[in-house]
Amino acid sequence: MSLNIAMLGTGRIADQELAPALARVDGAQLWSVLSRDPGRGKAFAERHGAAAASPVHTDLQHLLADDELDAVLIATPDKLHAAQCIAAARAAKHVLTEKPMATDIVEAQAMIDACEEAGVVLAVAYHMRWHAGHRKLAGMVHEGRLGTLRHVRAQWTSLAPNDQNWRASPEVGRWWGLAGVGTHCLDQIRWLMTPSCGEIVAQSNLISREVWKGPHDETALVSLQFESGATAEICTSVLFNAPKRMEVFASDTYAVCDDTFGPHGSGVITIGGEPMAYEVVNPYVGEITDFVAAVRDGRAPEVDGREGLRNVATLVAAVSDVARH
Ligand SMILES: NC(=O)c1ccc[n+]([C@@H]2O[C@H](COP(=O)([O-])OP(=O)(O)OC[C@H]3O[C@@H](n4cnc5c(N)ncnc54)[C@H](OP(=O)(O)O)[C@@H]3O)[C@@H](O)[C@H]2O)c1
Repeated sequence: MSLNIAMLGTGRIADQELAPALARVDGAQLWSVLSRDPGRGKAFAERHGAAAASPVHTDLQHLLADDELDAVLIATPDKLHAAQCIAAARAAKHVLTEKPMATDIVEAQAMIDACEEAGVVLAVAYHMRWHAGHRKLAGMVHEGRLGTLRHVRAQWTSLAPNDQNWRASPEVGRWWGLAGVGTHCLDQIRWLMTPSCGEIVAQSNLISREVWKGPHDETALVSLQFESGATAEICTSVLFNAPKRMEVFASDTYAVCDDTFGPHGSGVITIGGEPMAYEVVNPYVGEITDFVAAVRDGRAPEVDGREGLRNVATLVAAVSDVARH
């Protein structure tokens, strides 16, 4: 039996990555789509072969009333995720939500509670966990093959042409670079570090927003300390292009991931200066495959709601000195 999945939102990630990846996942298919605009919804449904007889919806409750629908993939702006997830759970649909799962902790907890009460899977879409090179490196780190983990540094930036991006304004976003890519850096750091280093026990933040002088982070520097004393740093910005890079420092050696952050699943990884071989795969296919398997097998997904909430908590703390909006 195939899992019928609805796409909520027809934007960049839904159109360019998620729908094409879903088409490659065994045991699942794009069933229907939610768009504010019926023409955009129809074009999306046709482009990606949505399988329902009437696949286009402009009303979420109408989409969720479909008995043949099993799950939703939430690919809308960040502040819409919580209400859409809770509505889906109450309709007994499983949820794979884009990151960050919510824009505050109360909402993230409400999403977890709604999915638990309904007995549906809640997964958070941190696709970098299915970059095969990062996955191989994480396995080595978790086995202690680099020695004792001491420090991780992650840098992922972009150059925004202007501030006409929903992430820059408070209506449907709460963070800019931190939500766009900083949350991925944080997820990678948490994935590598928490098994051996424990939870985050200290955090310091530097948020700069002086170019467009809007409410949200333009450049964000976040430093973290874990229970073991190990530390980590995140540098994210929408003001400049820079090498996308993650560095992992341990007591025996260090690893460097160059240009691996992104949708492509490629880039160069070295350990102690020596190249680490890995197969380039589409990370979004892995992410959706894990979600489908979690639903099918009744198990937790790789990144569940509780892990998504811990990520949100750190993002919230990162801007705690910045006025709430
Ligand atoms: N994991 C990743 O690699 C990755 C990459 C990029 C983004 N994301 C996440 O995916 C989500 C969507 O990001 P995106 O870059 O795809 O954004 P986007 O291109 O702006 O698309 C968002 C879509 O949501 C729908 N939408 C509903 N209400 C909206 C509103 N008030 N304002 C704007 N759009 C609205 C729109 O579809 P309709 O116009 O058809 O209603 C829009 O096309 C975000 O949570 C983001 O963090 C993840």
